Amino acid sequence: MNISRAKRKGLDKRVKGMVKFKEKLEFHTSLRVGGEAEYFVVPECYTDIKESIAFAKQLHLPWVVIGNGTNILFPDGGYRGIVIKIGPGLREKERRGNLLRLQAGESLSRVIGYLREQEFNDFDFLVGIPGTIGGALAMNAGIPEGTISDLVTQVKALTDEGELVILKKAGCGFGYRRSLFQKNRLIIVEGEFKLGGGRDWNIAELFERRRRQPRGLPSPGCVFKNPADYEISAGELIDIVGLKGYKIGGAAVSTQHANFIVNRGGASCVDILRLIDLIRTRVYKEFRVDLELELEIIFN
Ligand code: EPU
Repeated sequence: MNISRAKRKGLDKRVKGMVKFKEKLEFHTSLRVGGEAEYFVVPECYTDIKESIAFAKQLHLPWVVIGNGTNILFPDGGYRGIVIKIGPGLREKERRGNLLRLQAGESLSRVIGYLREQEFNDFDFLVGIPGTIGGALAMNAGIPEGTISDLVTQVKALTDEGELVILKKAGCGFGYRRSLFQKNRLIIVEGEFKLGGGRDWNIAELFERRRRQPRGLPSPGCVFKNPADYEISAGELIDIVGLKGYKIGGAAVSTQHANFIVNRGGASCVDILRLIDLIRTRVYKEFRVDLELELEIIFN
């Protein structure tokens, strides 16, 4: 499928939001890695998402949804289908009393600012997490003391048939960095949250913790989940096996926090995959712990 054929098929006519062809995915992932997306859509309404998926189905193309790209790795060869970026086009916020409705494309940091203006601190513990609401819900983002699922009451999602469904929190399969949205073809478009939980977060301490994490170089944040029922965190395990600072090509284990992989410049997807492999092998050899990826790797 080449670009002119895609244009003839008129994806750009069917979608109100931005449509690009051959878009570099390194611009849309915090790791700054990935080849080109054959089609790249930034929807402005739910119909745009439906149309993009319908188009993909007609042409037998794969499709994938991303948010801010903070937890995603695309192959160097890119993505031969449609990447749907739920971001700036879907950022509505609405608060009615203690209920807050957020569209999936809004960023966590903007929500924290918006709520602080109204003297709500419920989202404060998510400070420093760079994702969108949709991404944070899908990953159940958080810190050891709490996750976004503590606040959510229900999620509105689109099925791949284009039907809007509402899932109550109990039906969302939330677990540690997990939800049913990761495995199912359900696209989060909105979340509803209950405010006023009254938990007082120590903002200075939360900021201090974030300051200890790597900044400056492109990175997806924590690459591995902390192992369940094991007293040592992933970062500490990788640190103990001596891999802090270890480099493969342009990729390296951060010298500040061993559960972060950073792109020192020009890292390829292959560099990162090799580093991941090495880390898992070393940690398994020494501790018999099988580190599970938090980073999502997208294959065609
Ligand atoms: N540690 C080391 N060496 C390292 C890194 C950490 O010894 O290189 C030790 C620390 O000293 C500490 C322990 O490991 O005793 C845990 O480290 P840290 O407090 O940094 O927390 P974490 O478990 O590595 C978790 C989340 C982070 C979140 C922080 C906030 C996971 C996998 N990670 O990190 O979330 O920002 O807590 O406190 O659950 C993410 O999910 O992407 C993420 C970055």
